[in-house]
Amino acid sequence: MVNMTFTSPAPFAVYVHWPFCLSKCPYCDFNSHVRHGGVDEARFVRAIEAEIAATAARVPGRTVSTIFFGGGTPSLMRPASVQAILDAIALHWSVASNVEVTLEANPTSVEATRFRGYRTAGVNRVSLGVQALDDAVLKELGRLHTAQEALDAVAVARANFERYSFDLIYARPRQTLESWRAELKRAIAEAAEHLSLYQLTIEPDTPFFGLYKAGKLAIPDDDLGRDLYDLTQATCADAGLPAYEVSNHARPGAECRHNLVYWRGHEYAGVGPGAHGRLDIDGERRATATEKRPETWLTRVEADGHGVITDDLLLRSERADEFLLMGLRLAEGITLARFEALAGHPLDPARIATLRQHGMIETTGAGRLRVTREGFPVLDAVVADLAA
Ligand SMILES: C[S@@+](CC[C@H](N)C(=O)[O-])C[C@H]1O[C@@H](n2cnc3c(N)ncnc32)[C@H](O)[C@@H]1O
Ligand code: SF4
Repeated sequence: MVNMTFTSPAPFAVYVHWPFCLSKCPYCDFNSHVRHGGVDEARFVRAIEAEIAATAARVPGRTVSTIFFGGGTPSLMRPASVQAILDAIALHWSVASNVEVTLEANPTSVEATRFRGYRTAGVNRVSLGVQALDDAVLKELGRLHTAQEALDAVAVARANFERYSFDLIYARPRQTLESWRAELKRAIAEAAEHLSLYQLTIEPDTPFFGLYKAGKLAIPDDDLGRDLYDLTQATCADAGLPAYEVSNHARPGAECRHNLVYWRGHEYAGVGPGAHGRLDIDGERRATATEKRPETWLTRVEADGHGVITDDLLLRSERADEFLLMGLRLAEGITLARFEALAGHPLDPARIATLRQHGMIETTGAGRLRVTREGFPVLDAVVADLAA
């Protein structure tokens, strides 16, 4: 009898950034822009194709396991554009037969025919920005859709895709535990396998930041924020959607495989304006980033074939710190041996012991270290302590 071992190739993800939105939400600091005069979509798509070719020339021979169209609002793209980008990826790399292809969609730009087109193009998962199920709140968040329109978009997603997720923002102005409990339960009833639940963060240089500084945005204090977080964890876990990452909940096995590539420290390419990548070249890891401003990125790509403006070799210590920072966001935590292999030294046993005594982390017999329920609300401090 012949013994055969089938090993799957290391995960390799491709992130495609589409930087345009219909309007700018006042809380958002993502690389997203409004172009009232319209966008030359075909020209941007050609530039993304060129950047895929340039990236593949640097990291040839990979098998793509996941692709993510993020934004901005990628659902403003025509299905033919999505198809052209997926064709370019398949032209330059191999694509795994079970590839996960996610597209972020804003409820304002969801139509059944468009979604069917995405599915035909090869998209097999959508992530919808629902944000809230309350019309007054949606208005305050600067959203262009109502709660009903968001639910209608979820129904279109459900009709077209076996896998869909949607995002909600909580810890919003004036939110109470009771109102969030009711809203979350309504959301869970609409969810299938995955939900992303983000605590509102007040980002510098956003209109919300100005309102907050002026005392005009009463967001929950730390205690209420913590209670809202605990309620979120408990409610989702009870419904079979435990957190597998700080803000992401899924039925076991239905995690977003693309985001797991980031959090598990695997390799990924980033194309489009302001996209980040982590590429393994000649045994070393490089951190890449492209020009953020869409039109500047476009002219750079047209002149040079790519828009990369940062291409840094990561030191061993930087790579190990990043692995810790990303990996400890996951409920599964990290493998201690992998940290040691990356850093060239083990994590400090004295620091592990102290954090364990305080109930912030736990280690498992399988050589893993993970953050506990008590540790997650103070994750940044736990990571800083371990990495010091
Ligand atoms: C880049 S957006 C893309 C989704 C799509 N453009 C939309 O808004 O429907 C990804 C998600 O980040 C979350 N987000 C953006 N800014 C945030 C903030 N300041 N605080 C919390 N969550 C935020 C929102 O839930 C949003 O759906
Ligand atoms: S939250 Fe989404 S729709 Fe709003 S500005 Fe940011 S990327 Fe665009």
